[in-house]
Formats: sequence, C-alpha cells, structure tokens
Amino acid sequence: MRIEQSPEFQIHLQTLRSKEELFLETIYNVGNGHFGVRDSNPLQGNNHDYIGSPGLFINGFFDYEEVAYGEKYRGYPDNNQVINRLFDPRFIRIKVGNEDSLTDHFKVENIDKNLDMQTGLLHELFSVTTPGNRNFNLVVESFASLSKLNVYGVRYSVIPTNFSDEIEVIKVHDYVNQTVHQQDEDVRVSTDLGQMQLDFIPDNGQPSYLVTTFRSQQGAIITYQASENFAPNPPIEYFRDDNHHYGYRSKYYAKPGSAKDFEFLFAIGDIHPLVNANMYSDQYLSSLNNYINDTTFKSELMASAQVWQTFWLHSDVEIDGDPALQLCVRFNLFELNQSAGRDALTSIPAKGLTGNGYGGHFFWDTEIFMLPFFTYTQPEVAKDLLMFRYHTLQIAKEQASDFGLGKGAMYPWRTINGYESSAYWLAGQAQFHINADIAFAVEQYYEITSDDDFIRDYGFEIILETARFWMEYGNYAELDGKRQFVLNRVTGPDEYSALVDNNYYTNVLAQSNLRLAVKYVRKFKGDDGILSRLHVTDDEIDAMEKAANAMYLPYDKEKNVKLQFQNFEQLPKMDISAIDQSMFPLLLHYHPLMLYRHQVNKQADTIMVDFMFPEGNTLDQLKADYEFYEPITTHDSSLSKAIYAIIAARIGKDQQAYNFFSQAVQTDLMDVHHNTKNGIHAGSLGAAWEGIMYGFAGIVNNATSFSLEPHLPSTWNCLKFKVHLYGNEFKFTIYQDSVEVELLSGEGTDITVYSHRKHLTPDNNRETWQY
Ligand code: BGC
Repeated sequence: MRIEQSPEFQIHLQTLRSKEELFLETIYNVGNGHFGVRDSNPLQGNNHDYIGSPGLFINGFFDYEEVAYGEKYRGYPDNNQVINRLFDPRFIRIKVGNEDSLTDHFKVENIDKNLDMQTGLLHELFSVTTPGNRNFNLVVESFASLSKLNVYGVRYSVIPTNFSDEIEVIKVHDYVNQTVHQQDEDVRVSTDLGQMQLDFIPDNGQPSYLVTTFRSQQGAIITYQASENFAPNPPIEYFRDDNHHYGYRSKYYAKPGSAKDFEFLFAIGDIHPLVNANMYSDQYLSSLNNYINDTTFKSELMASAQVWQTFWLHSDVEIDGDPALQLCVRFNLFELNQSAGRDALTSIPAKGLTGNGYGGHFFWDTEIFMLPFFTYTQPEVAKDLLMFRYHTLQIAKEQASDFGLGKGAMYPWRTINGYESSAYWLAGQAQFHINADIAFAVEQYYEITSDDDFIRDYGFEIILETARFWMEYGNYAELDGKRQFVLNRVTGPDEYSALVDNNYYTNVLAQSNLRLAVKYVRKFKGDDGILSRLHVTDDEIDAMEKAANAMYLPYDKEKNVKLQFQNFEQLPKMDISAIDQSMFPLLLHYHPLMLYRHQVNKQADTIMVDFMFPEGNTLDQLKADYEFYEPITTHDSSLSKAIYAIIAARIGKDQQAYNFFSQAVQTDLMDVHHNTKNGIHAGSLGAAWEGIMYGFAGIVNNATSFSLEPHLPSTWNCLKFKVHLYGNEFKFTIYQDSVEVELLSGEGTDITVYSHRKHLTPDNNRETWQY
C-alpha cells in the first residue's frame, strides 16, 4: 500500500545515528495512549536466544511486586507497581519446506525501516535466511490506530528470493509474558514481574484471550482476526489444536519473486477489575470484536491516518532553517501523542508506552512537562489527563490520612493506579511538590481553556484538597525575626538533594496552591453547594491566605540568588567539571548521601520557579539564578536542559539557549543519554516543546492575557505553530523581526507582543507586529 509520504515526516533507518537493536525497538514503537508495541525481530518471539526487549504495553495494566525492605517502617508502600510486558503481537512463525523459524535459527537482517509520522505507519523490510540458505524478504507494516484506540494492525508480506518450496505462515500467540534477556543494572530500569495468566476464550472462530494478573487482580481481553481482502489462495484458516494453540495458518507453494500477504487486526481491550473481566468476558469480547469485524487493515489505517492528519494540522511546530532539529521536534510531538492516555483513568508513563523503565509510572512529568503541549493544542486530551488525577483524588486523601494528616490529599510521587509506588521514599514520596504541581497544572489548563465546568466540578476540589495538605504538613516558625510558614523535610525536584528544609521550588508552588484555593473559594462563594459539600469554612480559608503570605522563601542576600533550600549555601560545591565523563549520570556511581551533602544538581530545581513564575522577576535576578545554578547542574535528568534553554533565552544567552535546546530536543532520536533503548523520555520530549514555546517564542500566559517576547535562534528564519487559547485557535508565524498572528476560529482576544497589545476578532483576524 502506498500513501503519499512527505519527507519531513519520515524517520528513516538511514537517518538514525545509532542502529543498535534495542534503540531501534524504542524508536520504531507504535502506540496510541491506550497501548504501545515496541519494534522487534518478528520471527523471534519468545525464543531464549532473543536479545531484545520487545512487547506490548497497555496503559494502566500492571502487576504488583512486594517490595523487599531491609528495614520496613510504618507507612512504607508494601508493593511496587510495574507495567506488564505482554507478548509481542508482531510475532509470526514461518516454515520453509522443512525449516521452521520457531526451532531453527533463521537469520533476520534489518534492511529498511521507516516510520511515517504523518500516518503512523511503520514500514519494515527484513531479509531472512534459513540455515539451508533459503532467503526471503519479509515486509512488515504495522500501526496503532488513533481512530479506534483498541485496534492494532499488522501486515506481513513474504517474498522468496532464491527458492521455490512450500511455505507455511502461522500466527499463534500462546504465551503471555514476553521474555526479555536484556540485563541492565540501571536502577531506573524495572524488571518484568507481571504474573499474568493467559486463558483462551473458547471457540468463537478466532483467537481470543483473557489476560489476568494474580496480584493486581486486573483483566484485559485481546483478540485478533485475519483480514482477507486480497482473495488468498489457499485461504488463511483459523485453527485450534490439542495443545490449545489457537491461531491462523496458511500453507502454499511459493516461487521466487511471488509475494503473499497476511493481514491481522488486533483488538486490545480495556483494563477491568478481575471479577468483571471473568464475568463479562463474552460481552467485552463481542464489543471488542465490533472494532475489527468487517473492516480491513487498509481502511483502519486510513481512518487512523486521518486522525494523525488532524493532529498535525493543529499541533505541528514548523521551524524554517533547522531541518535536523525540525525532524526531532516532530518525532517528539509524535511520541507525545502516541503516549497520552485518553480515558481519564490513565496518564502518560515517564517512558511512554515504549518500555517498562520507571515501572511505567506517572510522575510530575505529565503535569509540568507534557501537559502544556496538550493544553495548548488538544485541550480535550489535557482534560483527560487531569481527570486521571481527579479520579484518584480519593486515594490521595486516603494516603494523607494513612500518613497521619488530619485533612487534605497526598498524591503519590509515582504511580499507575493512584497509590504510592516509590520504594525509595527520600527521592520519592518526599517529593511533596507533586501536589502543588498538579494544582498548578489544573490552573494552567483553566487559564488557557476557560473550561468553567471543569474547574467547578473537578479542578477546584483538587486545588482545595492539595492546599489542605500544605496546611497540615507545614507549620509556623520564627525566622529572620518574623513568624514564617515553613515546609521542613521535603525533597524538591532535584534528586541530588533529599529531605531538605524549605525547598524554594516547593514553597513557591505550595504558596501558589494555597492562593489558588483561596481564589476559588471566593469565586464559588455564592455557589453554596460546592463549598458546603467540601466543608470549607471561612477560618480555613483565612488560615490558607495567611500561610501563603507568610511562606518562607530562602534567599541568599549576599549573592542575590534564590536558595534551593535553607542552608544550601553551607554545603560545599561539587566541582562537576573535574569529574570524568564516564561517571555520569552521577546517580549510578555515587552513594546518594555523597551527592546530598554537596551543592550539585541533577536537574533544574530553583530554575523551574524562574520558568514557571516569570512575573515579578527582574532580569538581574534571572541572570543571578542562572549563573549560580548552571555550573552545579549535571543535567543527569533529561528534564533539565530544556528548562535551562528557556531561562538562557530569556536572559539573552542565545548560544547557550540553542545548545541546551538542541540537546534536549535530540534526547531520544539521537540517544543523548544512551538509554533510549529502555524507552523514550516522554517528559523530556514535552520539555523540548516548552523550550520552543516558552524560550524561543517567549510566551507568557495567564487567564486574561497571552504575550510573546520572541528570541529566535539566529539560524531560524521562521517558527510557526498554532495554539488554542480561551476557546479560540490562533496561528503564529514568528520571524526574526516580526510576528504575524491569525485568528483561525473563535471570537478572538488580545495578543501582546513585546508589550504592544492588539485585539483580534473574526473581522480583524490578522495582525502583524514589527520590532
Ligand atoms: C527525575 C524526576 C522524574 C523522573 C521520571 C527522574 O530522573 O529526577 O524528576 O520525574 O526521572 O522521569
């Protein structure tokens, strides 16, 4: 099948710097937020000599592992959650004469791979040689549907090159856990633990499985059909044998150059509690089948490609003058879109759905680094992501109460199902800033979308309950001769420090969280139902306001810098320029405490505040903070460089801004951290988008105004993007010395460029600023 391909949207094997198998498995994943499939050698399946980590990941489908602590204190999480790695749906078995890919070692070479980001189609060509030297080409095309999120399509074409013989193609999936032989000592990589069971749902004319987990008690149904729109002869037939192998097979006589195609559509079910999955499996199966009955690979691919087209129409970022980075930007946006849960019950795992690194957990990465992209370009997806937090709010409240707090919600630092899943609480659960991060994201979503229903029905409650957490966790103390509100014993974003007092970032975010609660209580004052349902009293709100106003923010008056935390200035600096490159990331080579006792940063921490709260900062302050923190930051976290790029752009350090940005934007496609093999760095991809928007376009937004102060890299001729804003959609075209804005839909609003405000309306839908 041929679909018009535009070269700027192709990830072609030849353009990739690394051809390492595991790296390619990640880069050539296909997914849609409900599930993701890593690339693989399609003939190897669960073979024991398979070096690779293929598999299918369903968002939210995980299993528990009991955490083994040396000393387990009260309140430590009992269990770790890890996303399940299911069988590789790309797997196929091929027999050539008496040689069998299952038992004989067929040599499989990657000849070509191309991911067409415009349609989501992965096209691959393998050259396969049997031990008896018979060679055939195997073309594999696959996609994860964006139009029906349960559908995965895979199509094979077998073309003998040097023999005539009988070929048998067999598609059977009779194991559930994909075996992985890769050994990795990196703490950030999780071991597979899903104890899953695969039960065949008997005889309904196609292979159908109920996959269940023992410990997390979840179930999902997976089924697939062979679609035959090309009149194969002899046909591909469904079979089942005594060993409970259900599948499809086709036997035919092949000649050199003759191609035979096999198409399969999988329906990958939603996650259900085990009891329901068992009880209603027939019902779930028949509704799943509706997705793949009476359709073909081609028509599903076309429908999905249509959705991709709409995606690019609204979300593309075009850079004129930097083709290499342009491709990276597109890859990043493509991956973000492939990773975002859209069912309000899941979020975006730190590695997308491309691996089980970080356990498949959701972190602050979603709200702070990825959500803005969705809020500005696909607000409905952003809303679903925030609804995941709303749906787990009760759990967060339960966690606060179990922890010993009287009130409020304590969101987990890392999770799949809403419960805390960090076994190392110092760099995990103690990152209480997650609560304020979520509140911040709720507010940002509201500011940009003006979605009144959301803030009233859901967002406000999140803001209120997280604000309550700060009131419970913090206390007043006498500092610098004043009674100040303090948040002691917390871990900030920088994971090379832990359990500090008054982390600047945390305190600013908590202050904002408290102020938001006060603001919305006042807004909903007349709407008595809401406030009484949530038991809000005047006293409580007064106390929140006072605490916010009295929040202690540590500051070094001599150096004029915001202090990462109280007494940070007393720690010795670690001279990171003197450390050998092989020792990075430091977390893999140093005892954590060695890092905690030094001034050394894994990632942007205080600098995050300068990024997220630009108001009220002088340029001198931004410069001082940047100059102080940049030399002590290792950027060992991939979330860091894009943020440094933003501040560098704002303070006029153009070359540094560009350098940081280009490294951030290349994180996965160029394997900057040498670990893309374990999965994409979804947060970093989102951060790179922020780098463009908040750094080079220089956007600043709040509920009433949207302004830009562009600082384009000197090599860029022009930057184009679209955003949704207060119910409107705008197109921005930024040149080195001017900005053009076009109102595409909606009633219009004010836009400010370098302090010059203009009003766009449907009648006056274009404006230009020269500077
Ligand atoms: C970073 C965290 C981040 C996590 C998941 C860690 O390396 O320090 O800030 O949330 O990775 O991406």
